[in-house]
Amino acid sequence: METFSHVEQPDLELLEKGYSLKGNWKKHFFKNQNPLVLELGCGMGEYSVGLAEKFSNKNFLGIDIKGARMWQGANSVLEKGLKNVGFLRIRIDWIEKCFAKNEVDEIWITFPDPQLKKRRETKRLTHPNFLTRYANILKKSSPIHLKTDSQFLHGFTLGIIAGEKYILEDSTHDLYGSPVVREHMEIKTHYEQIYLDKGMSITYLRFRLQ
Ligand SMILES: C[S@@+](CC[C@H](N)C(=O)[O-])C[C@H]1O[C@@H](n2cnc3c(N)ncnc32)[C@H](O)[C@@H]1O
Repeated sequence: METFSHVEQPDLELLEKGYSLKGNWKKHFFKNQNPLVLELGCGMGEYSVGLAEKFSNKNFLGIDIKGARMWQGANSVLEKGLKNVGFLRIRIDWIEKCFAKNEVDEIWITFPDPQLKKRRETKRLTHPNFLTRYANILKKSSPIHLKTDSQFLHGFTLGIIAGEKYILEDSTHDLYGSPVVREHMEIKTHYEQIYLDKGMSITYLRFRLQ
């Protein structure tokens, strides 16, 4: 991982001191001014890589704490010769230390752990604790996409969106059974493929914080 120039692995101590890429991802990491899209809990980063192949005019950054999965995604980026996708190995809890206000243009959350136990509620990546952090780095009116096999997490997130008066733009309990054709759903992550092979429905929703 340390040999990859498109992978960043800052530790908390460095982030606390002040991270040089905060506010500078476009200029110093991607070396352009194109929009910045994050994939949270990216695993191997299938969405980051898949979208980067489609949109050469956007920058994609996969974020996860697990290095072995990230290495696979980072390696595939080298093999494909993509310049508009990178990886950031951090706890998502530290995201405001890595990005400045208004620095991020879009967020994808792909098959996050649903954290079913009540005492783990605050670990859900769509818990208000996390949404507040995202609000501090996202540009106004930016979309957040949630794709998950967990009907529970889908419902939990719908409840948060309604309660906080966020703007729900799209929602389905059965993405591939729905007559509505949605873009970019042909990209399948590792976990999505496992759930599809088991015959489970996949849910999707898109919302804005303001
Ligand atoms: C079920 S996996 C999904 C991986 C990938 N998106 C997929 O669909 O194949 C959830 C991922 O979220 C990551 N994750 C969960 N909470 C996290 C956090 N607070 N900070 C960083 N990564 C986190 C885990 O390390 C794991 O790789």
